[in-house]
Amino acid sequence: VPPLDSVYFDHNATTPLDPRVLDGMLPWLGPRHGNPSSAHRFGQAAREAVESARAELAALIGAAPGEVVFTASGTEANNAVVRSAWSGVPPRGRFVLSAFEHPSVEAVAAELAATGVEVVRVAPGPGGCLEPSDVLAAVEPGTRLVALMLANNELGTVQPVAEVALACRERGVPVLCDAVQAAGKLPIDVRSLGVDYLTLGAHKFHGPLGAACLWLRPGAAFSPLLIGGSQERRRRAGTEKVAAIVGFGRTAALAARELEQRARHLAALRDRFEDAVLRRIPGTVVHAATSPRLPNTSSVAFAGVDAQALLIRLDLLGFAVSTGAACASGVVAPSRALLALGLPPAQARATVRVSFGMTNTAAEVDAFVPALCAEVAALRGASAVREPRSGAAAARSVA
Ligand SMILES: Cc1ncc(COP(=O)(O)O)c(C=O)c1O
Repeated sequence: VPPLDSVYFDHNATTPLDPRVLDGMLPWLGPRHGNPSSAHRFGQAAREAVESARAELAALIGAAPGEVVFTASGTEANNAVVRSAWSGVPPRGRFVLSAFEHPSVEAVAAELAATGVEVVRVAPGPGGCLEPSDVLAAVEPGTRLVALMLANNELGTVQPVAEVALACRERGVPVLCDAVQAAGKLPIDVRSLGVDYLTLGAHKFHGPLGAACLWLRPGAAFSPLLIGGSQERRRRAGTEKVAAIVGFGRTAALAARELEQRARHLAALRDRFEDAVLRRIPGTVVHAATSPRLPNTSSVAFAGVDAQALLIRLDLLGFAVSTGAACASGVVAPSRALLALGLPPAQARATVRVSFGMTNTAAEVDAFVPALCAEVAALRGASAVREPRSGAAAARSVA
């Protein structure tokens, strides 16, 4: 268990639960219980709680409550939409997605590609945003789905979803928008985005783990991932996780009310951090600095530094950040999102993601920056010491 004075700067991974959300959930983890499908008063009370959460979610994204389907995770919601597009049809046609979609979309794309679907991954520009024309150039007849996230989890960059969706609509091609990272940080309105499917998850904006949702445009084709009971109007079978859904509803209501204030707080922390590291650490690059971005996400490269080593050293000092690197078969591969930007692997390997949340303070940033300066200098010093030695060893072996 990390000591209580540890500082958490990894909110794009998950966020701490807002105590006001916990308050709303506690009765449903204790004295109150009931299966929302039961006809008696216990069931009816649980049903009411779930439906009022659904209305709160719908209000956050400008939707009608009946269009919102609760799921257990953002991954489940994304999987459901992509699988649904090829459910009951031969694995043919085209799937267009960005080259840095979350693995919950990308992994299904890879599976579909293996069965014969033509999968086209569109790369972002160097600023971390896709060009709508690049996406649309890939949307040929026979395209069954386009997937474009609203905000990238590693860079925080905001994607031109509305422009892409408008043109796709004219061509009759449905669009999935993964808004998991955008929720609670950017305004989201499903009608002005013009997409057909949109996904959100509670735990990325100070809500509980285990509650997420999928919004479906009325009339959008959908074949459920989970079948069995008739819950969620037969769009997602399984007894509703009432406590988590109640928490998700409160999370959405608070975010809707506090959106501007949250964005201001987060952007102030991010800017304070970026200004300080750019001033104090030579060889620092802030990725996508001038692109439209989430207010809370900073993706920063420190030239010559192994970001994995930096993460571990910072963790020992009590600061939690992330690298976005994936560990596959014991080998640490640099982040896909960073490589999709066209960064050289060495720069991707030198990048850390610092993602702020509502409980972070300016004092925490001020404590973090000197620690970061010292650790970057130590790692650079260590590699500077190693290089002449290995050079000398190489020279010796040649001699
Ligand atoms: C952009 C994006 N989509 C989807 C997910 C998956 O959400 P969950 O963790 O709820 O499965 C994440 C979580 O990291 C994410 O960042």
